[in-house]
Amino acid sequence: MSKTFRTLDDVDVKGKRVLVRVDLNVPMENGRVTDLTRLERIAPTITEISGKRGKVILLSHFGRPKGRDPKETLKPAAAALAEVIRNPIAFADDCIGEVAQKAVAAMQDGDILCLENTRFHKEEENNDPAFVAELAKLGDIWVNDAFSAAHRAHASTEGLGHALPAYAGRAMQAELDALSKALEAPIKPVIAIVGGAKVSSKIELLENLVSKVDALVIGGGMANTFLHAQGVPIGKSLAERDLAATALRIVEKAEAANCAIILPVDAVVAFHFAANAPSHAYGLDAIPPDGMILDVGPQSVERIRAAIDDAATLVWNGPLGAFEMPPFDRGTVLAARHAAARTKAGKLISVAGGGDTVAALNQAGVARDFTYVSTAGGAFLEWLEGKPLPGVEVLKIR
Ligand code: 3PG
Ligand code: MG
Repeated sequence: MSKTFRTLDDVDVKGKRVLVRVDLNVPMENGRVTDLTRLERIAPTITEISGKRGKVILLSHFGRPKGRDPKETLKPAAAALAEVIRNPIAFADDCIGEVAQKAVAAMQDGDILCLENTRFHKEEENNDPAFVAELAKLGDIWVNDAFSAAHRAHASTEGLGHALPAYAGRAMQAELDALSKALEAPIKPVIAIVGGAKVSSKIELLENLVSKVDALVIGGGMANTFLHAQGVPIGKSLAERDLAATALRIVEKAEAANCAIILPVDAVVAFHFAANAPSHAYGLDAIPPDGMILDVGPQSVERIRAAIDDAATLVWNGPLGAFEMPPFDRGTVLAARHAAARTKAGKLISVAGGGDTVAALNQAGVARDFTYVSTAGGAFLEWLEGKPLPGVEVLKIR
């Protein structure tokens, strides 16, 4: 993997101005960062460059501001990052122009500076060449350590890779290495678990996966659409009934590709959508007409566990039930714990990511036991869909 990318092993950063694209788009409540995972992941890259006496100049977006907006400043994220790396981080109120240039000129070797939100300039998202050139003035090389923003072809995530010598940071390297082990060159057999509410948001993902994996577990609200398509009465369950044909096409594609589709064989049903609503497990021939499927049933969990036992590699995206409302997190938690135990026993390589997935694995208390958990949302999904990611493509040695 590292052969196709230049990494920090391939450059002497001493005395250089290193523009490091990180993803400081962290969850924030009342000006405080509520989850440090992304900051912890980028710490090694920053510490390494600083330790080797390079000048670390951090670039990131935060939120989706339309122009300059004090509510979307990077200051609190930069302050939280300084605590994580236990080193001071200077801050400049703009990412280009005189303010940025002066701040960079004042840096000593080993210093760390964070520039203000790149999205305060609309030219960032347009990947505007003049804006890229303004950013490029500030650095000698560009290091991309923001896999979670690599699906965006923006100035700081992609454009700079054409303007300056480009390198993958340590977090980017770890991410690409894990993803490659999961789908590009995996140890077989490979199982994928895909959950979440909607088929419509994951059609491309399912179609790509059935051509790559040996077994595909479908759970969550999207499984209801498949069951409905196969003629199972699903009562009042959440489902995209108009996507029945799409679901059947995916099943056919799986059959042609020799990928086993594993759908629920039973279901936990409640009569209203609320935490701790009274619920029962039913076989698929007995779902009450006024009931709602909110989780996979116990026999389904057994099947999923057995399927995990048969696999050498697991890739997981999305919860199997309404995991944010106990007890409907049970299927997800039991399956995740089983995957974690197999991983700990050295029997399974397990890679998970995307949206709710990290929250679900944290709730199951097993995120640490997976081989790799990606902090990326959209980028992880696009990668699972088999799409090239602009921020990764630009790092490839041509
Ligand atoms: C993320 O949080 O998923 C990334 O930082 C990308 O953010 P975006 O969806 O606003 O581009
Ligand atoms: Mg996003």
